[in-house]
Amino acid sequence: EIMALKDKYKDNFDIGVAIPYKVLVNPLEMKMVEKHFNSITAENEMKPESILMELGSYDFSVADEYIEYAKEKGIKVRGHTLVWHNQTPEWFFKDEDGNLISKDELLSRMETYIHDVVGHFKGEVYAWDVVNEAIDPNQPDGYRRSLWYEIMGPEYIEYAFKFAHEADPNAKLFYNDYNTYEPEKRDYIYNMVKELKAKGVPIDGIGMQMHIGIGTDLRQVEEAIKLFSSIPGIEIQITEIDMSIYTDQGSNYMSPPYEALVEQGYKYQELFDILKKYDDVITSVTFWGLKDDYSWKNQTRNDWPLLFDKDYQSKYAYWGIVEPA
Ligand code: XIL
Repeated sequence: EIMALKDKYKDNFDIGVAIPYKVLVNPLEMKMVEKHFNSITAENEMKPESILMELGSYDFSVADEYIEYAKEKGIKVRGHTLVWHNQTPEWFFKDEDGNLISKDELLSRMETYIHDVVGHFKGEVYAWDVVNEAIDPNQPDGYRRSLWYEIMGPEYIEYAFKFAHEADPNAKLFYNDYNTYEPEKRDYIYNMVKELKAKGVPIDGIGMQMHIGIGTDLRQVEEAIKLFSSIPGIEIQITEIDMSIYTDQGSNYMSPPYEALVEQGYKYQELFDILKKYDDVITSVTFWGLKDDYSWKNQTRNDWPLLFDKDYQSKYAYWGIVEPA
């Protein structure tokens, strides 16, 4: 029997996986989840569009099934996500006539939403991605022009953390983003989080999504980890790992070239060698999917970004981080 990932990394950090509902209700696949992982994230089921029916009205039934399962098996749950420009109903930002609401109105809707949702999962979701993907290095001030930003300005970010902390003072609160290792974006995130901390905003850490590829420069990843961890009181979680086998935009293979899968194995090994080095600040590492054919990456083109293939077999990617050659 192959080694469980969570055992391999028990002295380093938690090992998590994002799963859609179809996996949660598949007993054989959940056996695999329980074997390898001690943390789960709902891939879509705790996002606003999944639980927010109308203002003040929620459907927590599916999300609650994740919580029940995890509780029964002693698995931790990361909450993903509260404030994001995607997968949030458009009407949340609009009045009955379809016009954008005022800053005060959005602030009050945000307060209600975060209090209700974080309150509902209090003590059960141990960590939240409170704000997701708010930085855009192409903007002059570094902030993404989301409806949150357009209506409230950058203050929406600190309010979100404040409300989450009010609803569950024990939950760990994260700012989460992708391409956090790109120097410009990295610096915006670093400065923002440092300032939030200095202001006393209740933020506990930075989530580095880590949607990378076999060509990603991992020295930049290490630089970003170093920089983020230099902020006092900030921990790091790797929240959404996957590694595309492509090094360009255009190609689309029907089956993965052998060489790419081998390279991916070495690249995963290299990544985890870095993560292990910083295991005093990195507390959790989550894969964005259980097996290749379930990866969201396939929405764009065929890809093989995870540790296990469609037949549940461990790839070089798995061996790279479990028994490096
Ligand atoms: C993705 C899911 O994996 C897909 O199933 C869904 O269609 C779109 O969202 N960054 C995030 C995640 O923070 O929530 C996204 O998840 C992937 C990118």
